[in-house]
Amino acid sequence: MSDMLIKNGKICLADGIIEKDLYIKDGRVDKIGSLNDHADEVIDARGKLILPGLIDGHTHMEFPFMSEMTADDFFYGTRAALGGGVTTIVDFITPSKGQNPMEAYKEWRNKADPKVVSDYGLHCILRSGGRESLDSVKPLIDEGVISFKLFMAYKNELLLDDESLYDAIKEITKYSGVIAIHAENGAIVDKLTEELLRDNKVSPVYHYYSRPGIVETEAANRIATIASIVGKAVKMYMVHTSTYGAVDIFRRYREMGYHFYNETTPNYLTNDYTVFEGKYGYRYVMSPPFRTQDEIKQLWSRVSNNQILVIGSDHCVYSDQQKKRHGTAVPPFNEIPNGTPGTETILPLLFTYGVLNDRITLPQLVSITSRNNAALFGLKSKGNLLPGYDADLAIVDPKKKFKVSAEMLHSNIDYSIFEGEELQGFPDMTILRGEKAMEDGQILVKAGHGKYIKGETYI
Ligand code: URP
Ligand code: ZN
Ligand code: ZN
Repeated sequence: MSDMLIKNGKICLADGIIEKDLYIKDGRVDKIGSLNDHADEVIDARGKLILPGLIDGHTHMEFPFMSEMTADDFFYGTRAALGGGVTTIVDFITPSKGQNPMEAYKEWRNKADPKVVSDYGLHCILRSGGRESLDSVKPLIDEGVISFKLFMAYKNELLLDDESLYDAIKEITKYSGVIAIHAENGAIVDKLTEELLRDNKVSPVYHYYSRPGIVETEAANRIATIASIVGKAVKMYMVHTSTYGAVDIFRRYREMGYHFYNETTPNYLTNDYTVFEGKYGYRYVMSPPFRTQDEIKQLWSRVSNNQILVIGSDHCVYSDQQKKRHGTAVPPFNEIPNGTPGTETILPLLFTYGVLNDRITLPQLVSITSRNNAALFGLKSKGNLLPGYDADLAIVDPKKKFKVSAEMLHSNIDYSIFEGEELQGFPDMTILRGEKAMEDGQILVKAGHGKYIKGETYI
């Protein structure tokens, strides 16, 4: 394996920015300093930012959901990741109904291993609180799957009742695992959906009205209550948090000594619900839905104040045809498969809307996109650029402007929900374990180049 010297860049770490050179050997950061070592490749990064490769802990590649399979498989999805400076994704094993989660784990490894171009880890969705499901927790943790997603929505599909949530949280905590909670009151969502459909309110904007913010905050409060009964050893984070109310509930529990955290997505920080009213409103349908400008402002203030631990993308891509259920007309809102693309635009969105707008600093950006993510998911070799860590890097020219188009992105679809927007912060180069994996938009590594990274539990 060749070595590499990156000179004159601004190395952005969670603790601060240092203007030094970085030497990479055997795929790992070897040293940082004023260096003139011989290297097979020398990169002049003058004027550029060097960030730890992002860890996107929330993607759904080859995800069977709402009777559709997401358009990005592990190949296209991880190409999109590298395009956006994401060097590790953590995806969700989704057992089919009745399938043993360990069997599903093997299936996911078999489909991901030959296709991934970035590194990846896995969470597992637990779709039942039954014995077979609970008995799979320990063996999955032994395989490096340390986090488990539990759903409070999607009745008859993924939703767990309160009793099952309690049992699952208890079992996961027994083995020091992490709970990823989808907090929406599914019963009320179903009720509101039924009422809206009865009144013939079917267009995409009614997706927003079927899932008001209170549906999320109620579920956040309920799951915090249930988890607190299990005790202070519980490690739980709420995925795709769209309301500041849910952030504040978890913060209050943290003040009492609980390990409850929030993830939000750049898409919630940049889109409001009026996107559902546009010509392509159906493309934006995801759950929880985009909310109001005030909610966006409040969410940003919590990102600024370090109350949101991690950013993930919830990358869950459907083609235009899939979003329209293969017809010509837009289907009723409740039939549109839920999900939006995101992994490739985490960095430019946070850089443009966050750093350039003085909402967050570069070290904060690094904390929420790599350092905290590696800690939460137990990815010990990732998320930092100190000697010994995997040499996973995103190199960004902070002045370069990009007009977003589907063509420049790497997903397997022909639209972008940010089409035409001018953003800064797309990386010029992504380096994975010391090898150039993306340069100027070209993916340089082949299917199977990525590695499965085991999560390791921690107290
Ligand atoms: O709408 C969404 N978020 N789709 C992906 C599935 C999930 O709940 O994360
Ligand atoms: Zn979810
Ligand atoms: Zn998701």
